[in-house]
Order: sequence, then C-alpha cells, then structure tokens
Amino acid sequence: MENLSCCIFPEGFTVQLVLIPGDGIGPEVTDATKLIVAAAGAKIDWIVAAAGLDAAKTHGDPLPESTLDLIRKHRVALKGPCTTPIGKGFRSINVKLRQGLDLFASIRPVCSLPGVTTPFENVDLVVVRENTEGLYAGLEHVVVPGVIESLRVITRSAAERIVRYAFELAKNQGRRKVTFCHKADVMRLSDGLFLKCAREVADDYPFITFDEKLIDNLCLELVLDPTKFDVLVMENLFGDVISDLCAGLVGGLGVVPGANFGSRCAVFEAVHGSAPDIAGKGLANPIACLRSAAMMLNHVGYRDAAERIEQSVRRTLVGKKGLTRDLGGDGNTETITRELIANLAA
Ligand code: NAI
Repeated sequence: MENLSCCIFPEGFTVQLVLIPGDGIGPEVTDATKLIVAAAGAKIDWIVAAAGLDAAKTHGDPLPESTLDLIRKHRVALKGPCTTPIGKGFRSINVKLRQGLDLFASIRPVCSLPGVTTPFENVDLVVVRENTEGLYAGLEHVVVPGVIESLRVITRSAAERIVRYAFELAKNQGRRKVTFCHKADVMRLSDGLFLKCAREVADDYPFITFDEKLIDNLCLELVLDPTKFDVLVMENLFGDVISDLCAGLVGGLGVVPGANFGSRCAVFEAVHGSAPDIAGKGLANPIACLRSAAMMLNHVGYRDAAERIEQSVRRTLVGKKGLTRDLGGDGNTETITRELIANLAA
C-alpha cells in the first residue's frame, strides 16, 4: 500500500521530477507553478515530457511511450491538463496514463479556504476514486448499427484495493468515517460486488465508521451539508462527477488539487481540465495546479516548501489582491502568481 506522504528523497537535495505541461491552460498553470515552487525553496530539476494535443502532432501519439517510461524511471510527475476530443479522435490521455502506470487511486482533498465565500464553512473531505476500471475505462463497441454497448468492469481485486486505500488514508490522516458510494440497487452485480468488498474491508477497520450511500442520494446530501462527510470512496465515473461537484462547494475548479497514486508511481494534477474557453488568454488560476505541486512536494519530502505554498495560497486568497476572475478578482495568471510568490515570504 502506497504511503500517501512517503518521503522518498532527502529534503534540500535537487530532485528530478517529470513535468507534463499538457495543453490548453496546462502550460500557463504549470509555468506559474514552477516559478512559485522554486521561490518556495524546493530544488527541482524538471524533466519535461510530452502529452496532449501538441504531442499528437510532434510525436504522432498524444501519450508517447517515452513519457510513460520517464515517469516509470523518476516515479513522480506533475501533470497539466490534457484535452480529450469529445465523441471522436484519440482515446483519453488521462485514462491511458492512469491505466498504463496502474495509478489506481485518485485522491482529491476538498476543504474550505479562507477568503473564498461559499455556502458552507468547514468542509474538509477527501474523494478517493478508483482510477482504472468502471464505465470510465471507455470499453465500448458497436453491437449492430445504432446500438452501442459500454462495458462497466468491476473486479474484486481493484475494489478491495481502492477501499483499503481509503481506509488507510483515513487512518493515516486521523479521519473518522469512510463513506462508500454506489448504485448497487440498480447495478446489482457490478456495484453489488464492489459493495460486498467494501463491507469486508471495513471489517478490518473497526475504529473507523463505515457508511454506505447511493450515489444519487450522496449528491443531494453533499449540496445540503457537505460538512458531515469525511472520506468518500467510489468507482471511476462516479468519482469523476463527484470531484467536480465537491470542487464547486469550496470555490471551484481553480483551487482543488489532486493526485493519482499507484504502487510505484504518483502523478499529481489539478481536478480541472484544459479550459479551452480561456486557454492562451493568461486568465487561468494556477492555484489548483500549485496545490497539486504542494501535495507532490510533501510526497517527495519537501515538507517545508509544501507548507509555505499552502500558507501563501491562504494569505493570497484572504488578501484578495491580484486574484483571477474565477475567484471574483479582475487579475490574471501573472498577477496572482506575483502575489503567491510575495506571500511565500510573509
Ligand atoms: P474544464 O475543467 O477544462 O473547464 C470547466 C470550466 O472551468 C471552464 O469554464 C473553465 O474556464 C473553468 N476552469 C477550469 N480550470 C480553471 C482554472 N484553472 N482557472 C480558471 N478557470 C478554470 O472542463 P471541460 O471544459 O469540461 O473540459 C475541457 C477539456 O479538458 C476536455 O477535453 C476534457 O476532456 C479535458 N479534461 C482534462 C482533464 C485532465 O487532464 N486531468 C480533467 C478534466 C477535463
């Protein structure tokens, strides 16, 4: 079981980490993040790797095997978002990356931030999403013209693995409750198996409360009172949807970080996508990418720099200077980056 904050490099040393800028707003938010990470004192030698729309043109493959090899070698990567063409074109880079490296656990911490006004205070939950199976795996075929089947694969091994991961995360972070989210009343075989596995794993953690929720009911309860949830664990597609919903509860996609863990590698990335509507305009909020980088710094042992970044994010949000439009400001990527760097020293 991968330790969430395993220190694999001694602090103060230059660490070689892979950087995938991605496309759309990816290069904008990763460039800002690199500047802030350096200003926070982390010595990172970024090994830039290709993925995304540009890689499709330059390498003939939106996710070249050389990129996967670099991550396998260096074990840790920061990734900008990558566009997936809708309803046509190549297969999702993200799905391929997660499956190719067996990054089975997607972790999205969702917490209220000072200075960000939302309907709720004190939200503090973690979405744990199974990252390799389910409907999201994109296994589809034409049965006959006009009839498509999508396969929803759930295996005992992957179900047990992700639920155990959620309980271990709860144990390591001193959290008290794990809620398993499903639709086993309708998908009786697939989610039935997942639920059975979840109950069995829960028996090994009698000191953590285990709770079960139908996914539709979870949505209702999250928007009424998200503060009653702690760790949420679910299959891939449900996790994708719930992550965005939860981001909306604490200030939007521009502020929520994420990470994908496997038994050997970890890839850190914001919850948001490539935001084609604002790409290239210098308007992107880099905080979600930056906070993903802070999770990465914690993971590799640069805990002081990670903490400085988190504190700087909080000061910047409270100070309200230079904020991007998604945060209610009239600034841009450059102004918020300047503030984030200035607030490292405060
Ligand atoms: P999106 O997350 O890119 O954008 C949704 C809305 O949020 C847009 O209005 C966008 O401007 C805004 N937004 C997102 N991030 C922002 C930021 N950092 N600062 C300010 N505003 C921000 O989702 P959408 O439009 O559904 O997807 C666009 C593309 O991204 C698609 O091709 C999708 O497949 C891909 N995608 C990639 C992901 C990844 O690489 N991890 C994750 C999600 C989507």
